[in-house]
Amino acid sequence: MSVPIARTVDELKRTVAEWRSKGESIAVVPTMGALHAGHLSLVQAALDTADRVIVTLFVNPKQFNSAADLAAYPRTEKEDAAKLTPLGAHLLYCPDGEEMYPAGFATTVSVSGVSEGLCGAYRPGHFDGVATVVAKLLMQTDADFAFFGEKDFQQLQVVRRLVADLDIPVAIIGCPTVREEDGLAMSSRNLRLSASERAIAPILARQLFQAADRIVAGEPIAQCLNRARSCILEQGFQSVEYLELCDEYKLIPLVKADQPARILSAVWLGGIRLIDNVIVTKTETSK
Ligand code: PAJ
Repeated sequence: MSVPIARTVDELKRTVAEWRSKGESIAVVPTMGALHAGHLSLVQAALDTADRVIVTLFVNPKQFNSAADLAAYPRTEKEDAAKLTPLGAHLLYCPDGEEMYPAGFATTVSVSGVSEGLCGAYRPGHFDGVATVVAKLLMQTDADFAFFGEKDFQQLQVVRRLVADLDIPVAIIGCPTVREEDGLAMSSRNLRLSASERAIAPILARQLFQAADRIVAGEPIAQCLNRARSCILEQGFQSVEYLELCDEYKLIPLVKADQPARILSAVWLGGIRLIDNVIVTKTETSK
């Protein structure tokens, strides 16, 4: 039997009420579809955690910065459902724009601080769109657990702040980035790269991991980050929007790696914006 699909809040709530009446726990995995192994790893983690798993599929217009990007976003509901069925996800929730934002909709959820730098500085309104839809999805699904990928690390921290500030009773669980064999972080945008762009795309991850190793080895931070930025540009990327060492929680740029830290980056390759991030882990031997 293929995964059941709910298209309205009412249908969703009826199913959730039935599960709740049996005392079952619920996890949600919010997505915009075009599912790949990164998304499916979240679904598997959710299945390992809760009795029931809802995957949401909604290409959220409020979080796109350009109409062209929104129009180009892949919409592959049938294929997505076919990938979820064998995993055993319990419900696919696919509301349309009218269901999510009916006439008269007038509320924006805006998380300050953690959403302001990095992607927030280059994509005005993006995290307001994310926070608004995630708040709605968490309330509509009434989930006990919600799973997000570290691939979108700033988004994960924005969501953590959102649920803490609004007292939304859900545990936010971050899952590691799933990568292609050559290290490229999986993303639905990768499909839009040409063969030659796809061949150089893994350089981003490689440079981030190398910079992290050099920082751990004690090389000056500015030197490590600059070297990564210039290598990326030399190899054929058009631009580096940002490539920064930031503190793990508030995402404030750091000049010293004396606390939990991460290197986060956004770059442009062939008209496609790619993001990635890696943790900077102190080993016992590093100073
Ligand atoms: P989307 O880009 O579809 O991603 C859905 C979830 O999958 C996010 O939590 C994202 O971090 C995770 N993900 C994407 N690529 C991944 C990878 N390679 N490894 C691990 N996890 C990965 O992020 C969104 O949708 C939207 O902003 C959303 C939260 C659904 C709100 O509209």
